[in-house]
Amino acid sequence: MTSIRLLLVLATTVVACPSSLFTPTPSYPTSSFTDRPLQFTGPHHCVGDVCVYADQGHSQGRGISVVTTGQNIALLESLPRYDRSFEVTNPPPFYESYIIGKGIGLVASTTIRRGDRLMVHDPTLLVNWGMHVEAAPDDREALYQDALDRLPAAARGRFSSQTAIGGHSIHANIETNCFRLFLDGGRDDSTGHLGCYPSAARLNHDCRPNLHYHIHGATQTVVAVRDIAAGEELSISYVDLLLPRTERQERLNDWGFECSCSLCRNETASAEADKRIEDIAALKKKLDSPDVVGDPEPVTANTGIELAILYEDEHLDTLVGQQAYTRAALNCALFAEETCAVAFAHKAMAALLVEVGETAGDLQSMWRLAMDPKAHWAWGLRLKGRE
Ligand SMILES: *[C@@H]1O[C@H](CO)[C@@H](O)[C@H](O)[C@H]1NC(C)=O
Repeated sequence: MTSIRLLLVLATTVVACPSSLFTPTPSYPTSSFTDRPLQFTGPHHCVGDVCVYADQGHSQGRGISVVTTGQNIALLESLPRYDRSFEVTNPPPFYESYIIGKGIGLVASTTIRRGDRLMVHDPTLLVNWGMHVEAAPDDREALYQDALDRLPAAARGRFSSQTAIGGHSIHANIETNCFRLFLDGGRDDSTGHLGCYPSAARLNHDCRPNLHYHIHGATQTVVAVRDIAAGEELSISYVDLLLPRTERQERLNDWGFECSCSLCRNETASAEADKRIEDIAALKKKLDSPDVVGDPEPVTANTGIELAILYEDEHLDTLVGQQAYTRAALNCALFAEETCAVAFAHKAMAALLVEVGETAGDLQSMWRLAMDPKAHWAWGLRLKGRE
């Protein structure tokens, strides 16, 4: 996802990011998504029950190649498709640029607002996870080569120009640049795949990223989770945001780089962040099992609010709706605190739409809570429990 060779050369000269040296690239593809159903040819080259399938006309001529089982192809072809290209900010509000200390990245060319959708893409290449980890290396590489050969030249070129860590194989390129997903949302492991979205692969890592992505079926949507000023680098996180700094750095070493984002570079901020991450874990534990006998600080309506404040202070904008606002809203409902329950239910809905999209599981429950708090199943339960 980042240019590692350049990074190694420049590793000793990390300067305040972002710093763009190159002129903007004008036309950047942000959406290849259409509502045309996926229709694959194949099976082509096979190893065992895994074969190459291709839809060469898909994604406005960019094509999609898939290495998977017939069952997964049937699932892919049956997934509902909506035309979502209208949702994408157009023209793209960013450009590709060289970032000192990181390599190629994407930079905002204008103000971007929280909730703006910057990319909606189907993968160029989609490979089955089980096969990716279990197949013999030669068999696997032959499958990948056949899949790449079936892509239009431009798409193949774009994939191949990505920097891979750990060798020149297609396997290494996929490991470095592609995203884990489940076609069925995670119910069945056999639908696990790696999806390659070359535009999103240009995004560098930040421990407190300004973008978030979610994948439904095989379609990836990239959304801004906060307002972003022109000139700011766009980022996603490659690792769990709630890991302490040393563990984040260990994981990032797998991508072959030292974490050089502003948080990792700032000792004071990193120490403060690690402390907040600890406090967050403790508060979540307390909210999940609130009735510990003899707890000097038992759970109150404020406990959820404290959690939300920690997430906000720590700029955990990609998680705050799912992990903090929903909990705060529910906790306030448990204590029959109406204003607080309604306010956090509204904050949760806005954040969930950004973080997860309109299919977010908690949206309906938060909607019901906001509209009629006293009718919610949780209303006042903690008060009654005490009497
Ligand atoms: C480092 O973080 C601290 C605490 O968040 C902040 O006050 C300080 O300005 C930061 N330093 C730099 C160089 O950004």
